[in-house]
Amino acid sequence: MPMRIGILGSGLIGGKLGIVFARAGHDVIFSYSRSRKKLDKLAREAGANGHVGTPAEAASDADLLLLAVHWTRVDDVLKQTAKLSSKTLLSCSLPMSADDSHMVIGHTCSGAEALAAKVPKTRVVSAFSTVPSEVLFTVFERRHHGTPPDLIYCGDSKAAKKMVATLIRDVGFNPVDIGELRAARLIEPFSLAVARIAYGGHSPRLAYRFVRFGDQPQADTRRHSSNRSIRQRRSAAASHSRSAT
Ligand SMILES: NC(=O)c1ccc[n+]([C@@H]2O[C@H](COP(=O)([O-])OP(=O)(O)OC[C@H]3O[C@@H](n4cnc5c(N)ncnc54)[C@H](OP(=O)(O)O)[C@@H]3O)[C@@H](O)[C@H]2O)c1
Repeated sequence: MPMRIGILGSGLIGGKLGIVFARAGHDVIFSYSRSRKKLDKLAREAGANGHVGTPAEAASDADLLLLAVHWTRVDDVLKQTAKLSSKTLLSCSLPMSADDSHMVIGHTCSGAEALAAKVPKTRVVSAFSTVPSEVLFTVFERRHHGTPPDLIYCGDSKAAKKMVATLIRDVGFNPVDIGELRAARLIEPFSLAVARIAYGGHSPRLAYRFVRFGDQPQADTRRHSSNRSIRQRRSAAASHSRSAT
């Protein structure tokens, strides 16, 4: 079922995701660029489903909004959108300092949770920050060929996460739900690790895939220590998900 999607921040990642969402059949409004020409170009590239508007127009009647601005612009763009309550707000924005040298939120909170606190009753989902924008068209073009790359996401609303999982699939990824919104505390630094690999000298057209092997520990001389380490990790994961509830 096609969604109406507002793009808040039509730069490197917002522009490309908007184009891909439109090509996948969704109705997309590009907004929040300092250049009207740029927005028009994006809408043309998106085809018949691409439109241009103000942030308020992008938000009005939208089923879902993509927030793709620098962290320092979040308050400004939110101010320009009308009421967002009960909407789904998909954020790929990372809580970076103005010079992008470090995260300004982490450990005990995440950018996604801080965002959710700014827009009460809005259903915030964190996704797409873990891949570089450069890979999006490639993943979309190859979406029907072979095993898709994974993409982790999280959020508190099941309904909002279902919409986001649909979009993740439409782009060509396999959605991996890692839990409630507080799991963005894990997603956000992971995004920086992926970026470091992506921009580390080779092509940034990089995505990732998780490989799960059997749970049985291998019968080797390290069996006891490996069992202990599996137990420790399981217990850490269980305590993380317990404290998330
Ligand atoms: N790029 C990636 O691969 C990537 C990957 C993961 C996460 N992210 C996150 O996604 C968010 C967006 O990143 P991006 O790389 O797409 O950034 P970007 O290219 O700079 O895009 C930001 C958008 O905000 C717009 N904007 C409007 N008013 C602005 C103002 N006064 N000052 C600055 N920008 C203004 C920009 O306008 P203009 O069009 O006029 O520049 C642009 O369209 C960031 O939080 C980033 O951490 C990006």
